[in-house]
Amino acid sequence: MKTLIIIFLLPCILLLLVHAQVNDDSFDPYATLFSPYTKQEWRSYQEKKINEGRKTELTFEVSYVNGTKVRGAKLYIKQLTSDFHWGCGMTHRILNNTAYKKWFASRFTAADFHNELKWYWTEATQGQENYADPDAMIKFADEHGIIVRGHTILWDDVKYNQKWVRKLSPEQLLEAANRRVDSVVNRYKGRLIGWDVMNENLHHNFFEKRLGKNASSLFFNRVHKIDPNAVLFMNEFNTTEHVNDEYAPPVKYLRRMKKIQSFPGNSEVKMGIGLESHYGAEPIDFHYVRSSLDSLSQTGLPIWLTELDVKMDPNLKNWSGLQVIYLEEILRESFSHEAVKAMIIWTGASIDGCDVMCMADENLVNTPIGDLIDGLMEEWRTGEIEAMADFNGSCQVSVFNGGYEVKVVDPVSNASSRVSLKVDKVSIPDKMVHVQIMG
Ligand SMILES: *[C@@H]1O[C@H](CO)[C@@H](O)[C@H](O)[C@H]1NC(C)=O
Ligand SMILES: *[C@@H]1O[C@H](CO)[C@@H](O)[C@H](O)[C@H]1NC(C)=O
Ligand SMILES: *[C@@H]1O[C@H](CO)[C@@H](O)[C@H](O)[C@H]1NC(C)=O
Ligand SMILES: *[C@@H]1O[C@H](CO)[C@@H](O)[C@H](O)[C@H]1NC(C)=O
Ligand SMILES: *[C@@H]1O[C@H](CO)[C@@H](O)[C@H](O)[C@H]1NC(C)=O
Ligand SMILES: *[C@@H]1O[C@H](CO)[C@@H](O)[C@H](O)[C@H]1NC(C)=O
Ligand SMILES: *[C@@H]1O[C@H](CO)[C@@H](O)[C@H](O)[C@H]1NC(C)=O
Repeated sequence: MKTLIIIFLLPCILLLLVHAQVNDDSFDPYATLFSPYTKQEWRSYQEKKINEGRKTELTFEVSYVNGTKVRGAKLYIKQLTSDFHWGCGMTHRILNNTAYKKWFASRFTAADFHNELKWYWTEATQGQENYADPDAMIKFADEHGIIVRGHTILWDDVKYNQKWVRKLSPEQLLEAANRRVDSVVNRYKGRLIGWDVMNENLHHNFFEKRLGKNASSLFFNRVHKIDPNAVLFMNEFNTTEHVNDEYAPPVKYLRRMKKIQSFPGNSEVKMGIGLESHYGAEPIDFHYVRSSLDSLSQTGLPIWLTELDVKMDPNLKNWSGLQVIYLEEILRESFSHEAVKAMIIWTGASIDGCDVMCMADENLVNTPIGDLIDGLMEEWRTGEIEAMADFNGSCQVSVFNGGYEVKVVDPVSNASSRVSLKVDKVSIPDKMVHVQIMG
């Protein structure tokens, strides 16, 4: 396995080494495979990538309608939305808990449900569907502008399929699974950001064993036909977490993805890369995480960390300092990859269970994990800032990509105007914003 990865990476490494020689003032992480590096060097490279990939340096030019520049104009810049999504798993226990709802909605713009959308939850007994929990949870999310991933339509692990499903003949299983797809996808189509179609189909093969090798591809096709705008995810563990899991390394992930995409009728499917990201109680293998994310991002597809947690140190059995350190490392490394569009923490409040890691205790008071995450959320947003234009009415500000409202004020007359901006490389390619004030 290790040999394979090295062979896979070798061209990239050589390329980067050549590049590093040409451009020797920049730190080259790949070169560190062969020479030592310091934590500070790694961190400064992360910062550089965050500046390049997550932020935009805008130049504002403020003038009166007659073209004269507004010397010393004041700018009040307010971030309304972020292009990057912080998310969290939740359970039905949120439904009757106002404090927990408030806690959740004040932090997160994305959600996954732990179990409530799963087949075994909505159709525990064959023929008796019950969508009360997911209906109410999606309503709560909608009311607060929280986007929801549909986790999960089907699951390839035999042990998470209901007894009645396991007993079906292949013909009956195909019929039941198709009915499951039609039922849940029709019910929520157009309302969810995306779906996990066949959870963990690299490690498991319950449906492939019974329905044939093309089972996952067929279900992706069926979901796409009903909900064509939804992002259809593969969702898998141990793709970035462990270098030595033979089932799900990036090469195999990409191979399976290609297979689904090349299946007749699937070329238009909007695919997404779901990485569960259940990390162990051990130091992160930075080289492996970085090279894995780099390989996966070559597809140009969005990458979501969907169930992020880090195990507790088994010897300490508490919120040990190491767990917080490992988590911070993985969050910083992941955020520095532009292709990572969202990170969903698996457990927020201990109301939903705290066995691996959670952010807040039963009174919604932060654990050290919660403090870390809240701190990084603050670090990775612009929030509200003020700036002043120079003599020529010009002002440079670096902001995180997202939606903004900017109020510009003439310091002499107090006349002002407001602009709404969507800030990213595509929306403002020349990074110039011209604002006019009525004199
Ligand atoms: C929510 O309902 C559960 C189950 O009925 C109950 O145990 C819990 O105390 C309720 N929580 C709140 C905040 O009302
Ligand atoms: C899977 O689908 C491909 C493409 O349509 C087809 O060529 C192949 O025969 C199918 N395999 C099975 C086992 O059904
Ligand atoms: C992930 O891979 C590691 C290393 O192979 C293995 O020990 C671990 O059990 C795997 N995780 C799961 C959930 O299977
Ligand atoms: C965790 O346990 C260790 C060893 O028992 C102890 O030294 C440390 O203070 C504990 N940390 C917390 C946050 O409780
Ligand atoms: C203002 O513009 C003039 C002419 O373009 C330039 O010479 C001057 O350096 C500029 N001043 C500032 C503060 O940027
Ligand atoms: C502009 O606003 C400032 C601060 O509110 C005030 O002191 C000043 O008198 C105002 N100027 C004019 C022309 O209204
Ligand atoms: C343009 O308008 C501003 C504000 O009304 C005024 O102060 C300035 O003198 C005008 N410039 C010219 C060239 O007319």
